[in-house]
Amino acid sequence: MGQEQYINADPLAHPAAAAFIPRYLHQGLPDSSGRPDVRIRDDFYGTRRKLRIGVLGAGISGLNFLHYAEQHLRDVEIVVYERNEDVGGVWLTSKYPGVRCDIPSIVYQFSWRTNVWSEMYAPAAENLAYLQTVAKENDFYRYIKFKHEISRAAWSDEDAMWALSVKDLTTGDSFEDKVHLFLEFNGPVSNPRLTPIAGINDFKGEVVHPAYWSDQTSVDNKRVALIGYGCSGVQIGPNIVERVTKLYTWFRNKTYILPPPNQAFSAKGGANFEYSDEQKALLADPDVYLTYRKAVDDAFYRRYSYIINGSDMSKIVKDNTVKYMREKLAHKPDLLETILPEGFDIGCRRQTFAYGYMEAISDPKTTVFSKPPQRLTAKGILDADGVEHELDMVIAATGYDQSHLPRFPKLVNGKSVTDFWSNPMSPPSYMAVCLKGMPNYFNPSSAYGPLPQGNYYQSSETFTKYIVKAISKIQIDRIVSITPKDKAVDHFVRHANAFLKRTAVTGPCVAWYKGNENTAPPAIWPGARSQFLRTIETPRFEDFDIVYEDEEDMFAYFGNGWTLEDDAEEDTDKTWYMGKPGREIHPDVIGRLKGTDGSVKHLVQGMAGMPRLP
Ligand SMILES: Cc1cc2nc3c(=O)[nH]c(=O)nc-3n(C[C@H](O)[C@H](O)[C@H](O)COP(=O)(O)OP(=O)(O)OC[C@H]3O[C@@H](n4cnc5c(N)ncnc54)[C@H](O)[C@@H]3O)c2cc1C
Ligand SMILES: NC(=O)c1ccc[n+]([C@@H]2O[C@H](COP(=O)([O-])OP(=O)(O)OC[C@H]3O[C@@H](n4cnc5c(N)ncnc54)[C@H](OP(=O)(O)O)[C@@H]3O)[C@@H](O)[C@H]2O)c1
Repeated sequence: MGQEQYINADPLAHPAAAAFIPRYLHQGLPDSSGRPDVRIRDDFYGTRRKLRIGVLGAGISGLNFLHYAEQHLRDVEIVVYERNEDVGGVWLTSKYPGVRCDIPSIVYQFSWRTNVWSEMYAPAAENLAYLQTVAKENDFYRYIKFKHEISRAAWSDEDAMWALSVKDLTTGDSFEDKVHLFLEFNGPVSNPRLTPIAGINDFKGEVVHPAYWSDQTSVDNKRVALIGYGCSGVQIGPNIVERVTKLYTWFRNKTYILPPPNQAFSAKGGANFEYSDEQKALLADPDVYLTYRKAVDDAFYRRYSYIINGSDMSKIVKDNTVKYMREKLAHKPDLLETILPEGFDIGCRRQTFAYGYMEAISDPKTTVFSKPPQRLTAKGILDADGVEHELDMVIAATGYDQSHLPRFPKLVNGKSVTDFWSNPMSPPSYMAVCLKGMPNYFNPSSAYGPLPQGNYYQSSETFTKYIVKAISKIQIDRIVSITPKDKAVDHFVRHANAFLKRTAVTGPCVAWYKGNENTAPPAIWPGARSQFLRTIETPRFEDFDIVYEDEEDMFAYFGNGWTLEDDAEEDTDKTWYMGKPGREIHPDVIGRLKGTDGSVKHLVQGMAGMPRLP
């Protein structure tokens, strides 16, 4: 058995790794199956693959990623492409009357950057200012290319990268950027949807979707039709009724309008309120802040078992809601009849809370058509009985495209990713964060997310931590790509679809998470929020097909056998496995623990008296 000379041919990421390169190898015993040896990397264990990460979107999700990436990743180059001119996502673009968060701001914020808010439900402008402040404080702007739109993404196994086609919206120029990972943070509600409305093109007045409301848009003294009674419609109604001369609306489907949640912490009747200076001073104490935050969240979350078919909580919430709707519309029994559903329970549709909406639709200025109108005309609206009502403006609060179908071409090895969808209405999601057949791709606002349970910030943080853990593994374990296994996708979707039959969600109603026509299985998370937070905490890498840099040796990342902490030139903690002392101890103290002549003598004397070992 001889020796052979060993020379490392590759550049080292850490020069100190040179000290661990052997001069020669023993020949040893041959591999029992006659294969050549795998190649041992000469870098330390822990040396990260350098990655370029392409991010779409600088809303809550994009900023969350930048925060956690800065905290936990190294050796990454991140570029964020954002088609808008600033950060903020929907909070930059949503300017319609009454726009504000509909869950309390004290919980609708980053857990890592809490804020003292002006109101319980902060208006859009304050939400935007908060996101801009966070971006400035952390210098996140340096990562973001504004007015840049991604229009195509194509993965190729050959170079194991996504080629992103990007258009500079200022110059009109397009270019390609190749990235190892593509994180699509496009948001669940960023593609406004104008459903086909009969006669909409004939109407000569103004038509505006809430997402396109501008500073110049005005309802003052206008005759307005408000289409839609989702979260947007119920916020707009009460905030325009005073200013219009006439308001028309109608209900295409029946719906529950829930009393405001968090009544215990709200002003009278669940109303929003401004925090007083005294309350703000109280909130300056971090422990008071956290205790209040927990109490508000607990009050909201506790009720979620109402979603379970036939549960006691379902009955309580439904009874309360029906009682509330009856009280509010006591003077308008016909209107109550027009709205109140019978065939399905609360939770079948996304909850809509009534911050003044019931008052708006029962206002003397408001006409609620008991049957959907026939169509819009050049001058106004033709009701079901053939009467024309003149209008100046139509507010089409008709929602967003939430189909999860790609909004621009996405290809994997030349094939459109929709080829992996067996049913275009049913997105092949893996744990709401990856999609079938898409390597190194994450999208936390994709199908099956826990959206209807509120608090997007919280789910975004949970998904982001998951993504960052996955990226770390890709870097350290010398992985080229991870793709959810087809079996894992199939099982996740099948499990979700089966689970959701236990809940009101699968009831006979129309909702955006069922493709808006009740034609698709509801694509929402199969469980409550705490279960979501627990199950998504630890990535299940066993559910991924993994391609390694060295496909002959998945353990190539063991490297030269030493860890980065062993780099003698770096001031690293070489005994990290013992933990850290609670406080810094001066070296003199440790010096006093060194042996002295006296102690050696004492030790020898002690040894002398000990029995000998056999
Ligand atoms: C008016 C409104 C109020 C809401 N209130 C609440 C609430 O109270 N509680 C709650 O939990 N949730 C709420 N939501 C839902 C959710 O919190 C928000 O949608 C949230 O802002 C989503 O953040 P995001 O970063 O994932 O997506 P977004 O905020 O939608 O940001 C996505 C970004 O991606 C950019 N983008 C999209 N496509 C491209 C492209 N091709 N190229 C480049 N850039 C692109 C967009 O310009 C945008 O800036 C609300 C939504 C709306 C619309
Ligand atoms: N403050 C907030 O929290 C807030 C505010 C806005 C938006 N959001 C988020 O955005 C999501 C979408 O809310 P959204 O209100 O914009 O949309 P949405 O919930 O999808 O509501 C759209 C509304 O338009 C109606 N509609 C659509 N086409 C119609 C037509 N042709 N004729 C008559 N009615 C029609 C729908 O009726 P049907 O239901 O009968 O189909 C529905 O009432 C929310 O679920 C939420 O996640 C949150």
